[in-house]
Amino acid sequence: MIVVFGSINVDVLVPVPHLPAASETVLGGDYVVAPGGKGGNQALAAAKAGGAVTLIGTVGQDPFAETALSLLRRNGVYLNYITRVVQPTGCAIVTIDPAGENQIAVAPCANLRARATQVPDSVLDPRTVLVLQREVRDEENAALIGRARQRGGRIVFSLAPAGPIAPAKFDDLDYLIANEGEAATLGDPAEIARQLRQGLVITRGAEGAVAMLRDGSTIAVPALAIEPVDTTGAGDAFAGVFTAGLDRGLPLDLILRRASAAASLSCLAMGAQAAMPDRKAIDEGLLRL
Ligand code: RIB
Repeated sequence: MIVVFGSINVDVLVPVPHLPAASETVLGGDYVVAPGGKGGNQALAAAKAGGAVTLIGTVGQDPFAETALSLLRRNGVYLNYITRVVQPTGCAIVTIDPAGENQIAVAPCANLRARATQVPDSVLDPRTVLVLQREVRDEENAALIGRARQRGGRIVFSLAPAGPIAPAKFDDLDYLIANEGEAATLGDPAEIARQLRQGLVITRGAEGAVAMLRDGSTIAVPALAIEPVDTTGAGDAFAGVFTAGLDRGLPLDLILRRASAAASLSCLAMGAQAAMPDRKAIDEGLLRL
């Protein structure tokens, strides 16, 4: 079973001719309002890849809450531990340039009310893969890491957005997943990999991904050759599908290849969740990797 604890947002996506510089106003095309949030995106990616997924987080009591949860519900993600608070649902403003690159500003709102106590012990057992990101409070993630470790489950931590993890926590984590920019904030990747229970996975956009394992070995996988429309949520697609593979007990090389193919495919439509591939699409993508 996969348990994702994390952010649930609505994204307002604006296509722009170029990403705005400081103090610049850029006129773009029509906006799209779509579900997002790193927690929600990763939960959806894992569910579409075939995982049994529970998402735990916090939304508001506003109409955005339904928008944020719509695709998750439709794809069978278990949502009964999500709480509704008086703060508005989290929202991200996303600008996307013609190459599919983005700039994201997040208003976390309700996500800052997400509490580790929402996660019952009954969903944390030795078969659980717990997935965390950094759009909820660090202390709530830390509390959950401690409980999950005690109960024997595995933990995947997506270091997004970049920021500190208490060094003492590295050896509680099975896998840490980061993009190149996020990984650069950690220091020597080989040293970080040695501190983790399994290893560090660095996603490299069009270059694919590399896993640096605790024993010093590495596994590199390519990305699919694609024309990206919107790269928003590609890292989340990777993390979710990686987790689904771990949950299924697949070999690491295959897990990485599936996650990399899924991340590429997720860039083929506007919106973080719109192009999240299902298991069949990932299987087909693998043939072209
Ligand atoms: O990783 C992409 C996500 O980051 C977006 O969906 C946005 O909501 C922010 O959380």
